[in-house]
This record gives sequence, C-alpha cells and structure tokens, in this order.
Amino acid sequence: MHWRKALKDMKPYTPGKSIEEVKEIYGLTDAVKLASNENPYGTAPAVQEYFKNMSINFEVYPDGYAGVLRTKMAAKLGVAEDRLIFGSGSDELIVIIARALLGPGTNSIVATPTFPQYAHHAEIEGAQVKEIPLVDGQHDLNGFLQAIDANTSVIWLCSPNNPTGSIINHEDLVDFLGKIPENILVVIDEAYFEYIVDPNYVNTIDLVDQFHNVIVLRTFSKAYGLAAFRVGYGISNSEIITNLDIVRSPFNITTTSLQLAEAALEDDSFIAMCRKLNREQMDRFKEFAEENNLHVFDSEANFMLIEVPMSATEATEKLLGQGYIVRSGDALGVPGYIRVTIGTKSQNDGFLEAFSSLIEGAGLEK
Ligand SMILES: Cc1ncc(COP(=O)(O)O)c(C=O)c1O
Repeated sequence: MHWRKALKDMKPYTPGKSIEEVKEIYGLTDAVKLASNENPYGTAPAVQEYFKNMSINFEVYPDGYAGVLRTKMAAKLGVAEDRLIFGSGSDELIVIIARALLGPGTNSIVATPTFPQYAHHAEIEGAQVKEIPLVDGQHDLNGFLQAIDANTSVIWLCSPNNPTGSIINHEDLVDFLGKIPENILVVIDEAYFEYIVDPNYVNTIDLVDQFHNVIVLRTFSKAYGLAAFRVGYGISNSEIITNLDIVRSPFNITTTSLQLAEAALEDDSFIAMCRKLNREQMDRFKEFAEENNLHVFDSEANFMLIEVPMSATEATEKLLGQGYIVRSGDALGVPGYIRVTIGTKSQNDGFLEAFSSLIEGAGLEK
C-alpha cells in the first residue's frame, strides 16, 4: 500500500490507563485519574441540567457553521463572527492547520517538550520538524527565531505550555511576533487559558488584531469540563479562518456538543470557581515540593510538573499501585518528573499522602 512515508517511523497515540483498568490491575476499590488535565470539578451544574433536558433531532446533521455558538462566542470575545473556527477539540484544529499549511519541503518549529500533537501532525504531512528545547521551562523564543528559514510555514507556541505549565510573558511574545515574517502562521495554543491568574499575561485576542499571521486556539475540554464532547475553537483573521475552513470537514461537531458548549458559555461563575480552587490546591503542591526539596515548575495551568526522588517511570508505577494515575516525565521528555493534574482537595489529600510515602520509601529526608 502507498502509505505516507512518515507513518513508517510513527506510532498511534497510546492512551494512559483508565480508572477501571487501574482498579482491576491493582485490586483497588477506587482510583483517581490525575493524568489528563481534566477538570476535577466536572462541568457547570447548569450544563448538566441542560444535558438532561436536551431534545435533539437525531436524523438531522449538526449546524456545520456552529451558528449559535459562533454568535455567543464572538460577542463574548468581542470579535467578528468570521474570525472564529470551531473544531472537534482543539486537537482537530491542530490537524486542520497542519493539513492546510504543511507538506514536504516545508518546516514547522515547536518547543520541546510541548504538546506532542503539533510535531505529530507536521510529520504526517511530511514537513520537517525543528524542535527548540525549553530553557528553564520556558519557550526559547530566540532559538525559534534562529530556526526560521525560507521554508518555515507554521510556528507552534503553547502557553501555558504542556507539560511545564509555564506561560510566555507579554513583552517577549509581542517582541517575538514583531520579528516573524508575515507568511508564517504562528499558533498560540491556550488550552489552559481560563486557569491563568498572572496579571501580566498577554491578551492574545488583541495580538490577533495586531499581527495578521496569528491564530489562538482554545478549548471547552479543560476548565469548561467538556472533554467528553470535543469542542475547541480558533480565533484569527477572516482570511486565515476561510482557508482553514476549506480543510475542516463540514459537520465536525455534533449537535449535542455544540449545544453543551453554548450552555457552558453562560456560566462564567463556574470557571471563576475552578480557577480559584485550582490556585488554592496548586499552593499545596508548591508547599509540598518545597518542604521535600523537590523542584516544581511555575504553572499557570491545572497541572504541575514535579520532581520525583526516583525514576519517573518507577514513581508513576508506585503511585498507580496506590490508585493515583499521573503521567511519567519519561513519556513527556522530562525524565525525573511527573505531571500531575491538580485535583480536588480530597483527591489531593490522598495524592500527597501517597507521594509522601513514595518519598519515605526512597529514603529521602523531609
Ligand atoms: C496544550 C494542549 N493543546 C490542545 C489539547 C487538546 O485539547 P482538546 O482537543 O480536548 O481541545 C490539549 C489536551 O490535553 C493540550 O494539553
């Protein structure tokens, strides 16, 4: 068969273990998943209520224009409706961008480590991927600038970055965008935008106005707690959106998902509550790391990358045995660390206790 060349050296995405699998393997009555940066508080009660009372014409295709959601989102963001694109998760928007702009003879620049889907889809399209290592957990924007050449087509920035949680500060970002040739698309993936509290964080919607080669990606999967329903969106100028819309499949978001996203947009107080609780619980993680002399990256997201006193894989396995599912840094390109989603107070009580026993077991002094 005539498979694309790139597929030969690539592997399908391997999902982490589910709560049910972990319970069965380790003979546990309960397990807590802190591995996928989902919202531990679920979704807004009003969205759950809406879901129960939904009435949908099963046989009718969804609105491929996402009209109602588009109008609501445009008003919320203060942008024109033709500056938005909606995807089946921001994952799908990453695929669409790669498909629209990348191919053999082009290259794409990413940080490393970062969200792996940027490089994954660039490679599938046959583009060269240039990886610029983070410096102290931050995007090395100078390194990005140096990597640009005549064939560079897409630059991917992730802020807050997955897996470090670090943001790109306003001045650095503005300075960087001012130096990027207009024919290169700069993607700013803000999947964790709603969790940011740093008052100096850039308003990227303004940047989309200022620089005509920028697209911002956001999602309903994280703070809005709708990961199961797969809705992401992009904000850019209408020319970029029109080109990306050519690639998008016509009915890419289900009617149920569209309506739930519309309902979720109504409840800002839920988002504010999640942001606040996330911060409170993050402080506990920071204190814990400090008390135990473990390095932790500054995070503006709903997860933290924490040093472990043994190999990341061993730590992950041991935590799994106690019912806590986290991501090993070995799988994320950060050996010696685990990435933990910040859970609810009671989830974190248990997790930090399990983590303590890990440290005691490793014979480290507190
Ligand atoms: C940085 C980043 N971007 C995009 C996504 C994809 O999110 P979704 O496709 O659910 O919108 C994730 C999910 O973990 C992520 O961490």
